[in-house]
Amino acid sequence: MERAASEAWRIAVLTSGHGRGSNLRALYKAFTKNSLPLKIAFATASSGKAPVVQLCSDLGLPCHILNPRYQESFENRLLELCQQEQIDLVALAGFMRLLSPAFLDQAGIPVLNIHPALLPQYRGKGMYGIRVHEAVFDAGERFSGATVHLVDPIYDHGEIIAQEQVDISDCHSPEAIAAKVLEIEHGIYARAIYRFLRRKFT
Ligand code: GRF
Repeated sequence: MERAASEAWRIAVLTSGHGRGSNLRALYKAFTKNSLPLKIAFATASSGKAPVVQLCSDLGLPCHILNPRYQESFENRLLELCQQEQIDLVALAGFMRLLSPAFLDQAGIPVLNIHPALLPQYRGKGMYGIRVHEAVFDAGERFSGATVHLVDPIYDHGEIIAQEQVDISDCHSPEAIAAKVLEIEHGIYARAIYRFLRRKFT
């Protein structure tokens, strides 16, 4: 969808039930502070008790509680919201579930994810959160990083849009790697979304 220069691209951010929401916060900050033509139109959380609910209230963002465990109703409602809110791009930030091929097809807009490792390594079902960093630590890697990729119906699999690596040779625990990688995530995601939309729609 083309946007006038004065209009912002509209982003929906999907999170989980217990995530910290640090990527959501970083996106919000980057979009507002850097005056990028991007706006978070709404976020979702899978439970009313999710920390993201309070975060959204603090940031003044609409937050919809949608539980992806009930995939069909979740995806139908999300499609409705994306249409109503004229969403240009869906950004996953700690969202743990696969989206169905039917949803991705019907949505007709890009869906991006951020993964806390250098894809295509350390990916797949169960490879999330601290488990990623434990695997990287156990393998004795010198570098890790963050990857932004297009979402397809396979975990952590779609085309890579952006990737940034960081030296972790001074990290003596998975937690230390996680902290370094999270910093990278907070910088890379907003830039990747902006560059991706600019390339696609202008
Ligand atoms: C991040 O590490 C992200 O890469 C992964 O899930 C985590 C979400 O963290 N997909 P937060 O809730 O954004 O802090």
